[in-house]
Amino acid sequence: MTSKSTFKIAVITLFPEMFTALNFGVVGRALKQGISELTYLNPRDEATRNHGYIDDTPYGGGPGMIMQAAPLLACIRKADKIFPHAYRILLTPTGQPMTHEHVKTLSQHRELIMVCGRYEGIDQRFTDLAHIDLELSIGDFVLSGGEIAAMALIDACIRQQPHALGDAQSAHQDSFCEGLLEAPQYTRPKILENKTVPSILLSGNHAAIRQWRRKQALGRTWQYRLDLLSRLKLSSTDQALLSDYQSELNQGEEHE
Ligand code: ADE
Repeated sequence: MTSKSTFKIAVITLFPEMFTALNFGVVGRALKQGISELTYLNPRDEATRNHGYIDDTPYGGGPGMIMQAAPLLACIRKADKIFPHAYRILLTPTGQPMTHEHVKTLSQHRELIMVCGRYEGIDQRFTDLAHIDLELSIGDFVLSGGEIAAMALIDACIRQQPHALGDAQSAHQDSFCEGLLEAPQYTRPKILENKTVPSILLSGNHAAIRQWRRKQALGRTWQYRLDLLSRLKLSSTDQALLSDYQSELNQGEEHE
């Protein structure tokens, strides 16, 4: 299936082979089905110097090598011809921290270009001349290149495509969807090394299960990601559920 609605991504990378890691599970199936299509452009193929070199020492001195702007610009101009309406993303540790909001917005586009840097960085004139729309980082740490970050973004965006997931609802149930962490999940067996599944999940009472899950989601977010919780305006029902969670936690600790 290739249709007008195919989610198309051109990736500019020195290591296209790394992206074979996306050929598995949900994302692998979506690629096979044509829900999404990946195209690669390699700056090495655009090298202007002998032996395919595309890096050089930094002006002003300093350690490591810098990616030259010209081979990357040649790639982005080729990508432009294939995807004239593409939104341009550069993966870099100095970008905005990637969130579910970015993923939701980016997955609405039909054409994306993702640029993966390597070495100690990219000549700034590339970013200026290539009209990059958004610079994104997957965390406050430095990877050896943007490829793993691009793969994380591609995976998250493909999950959001209609029909990519078996159960159409599950992308909406993902953690962060409503700004909360997900409630814990359980499957068979009912008892594992003396640990039982919470009895409410076996009750068949769907309203009570929904409420329990909401309480767990609120409680976990309060415990582990206060930064997320502080961005939300909790309803009085949610506040009551969270208080319940907090007192149950205290009681649990008293009994230990
Ligand atoms: N390239 C190197 N480190 C990165 C990071 N943390 N996020 C995105 N791209 C990167």
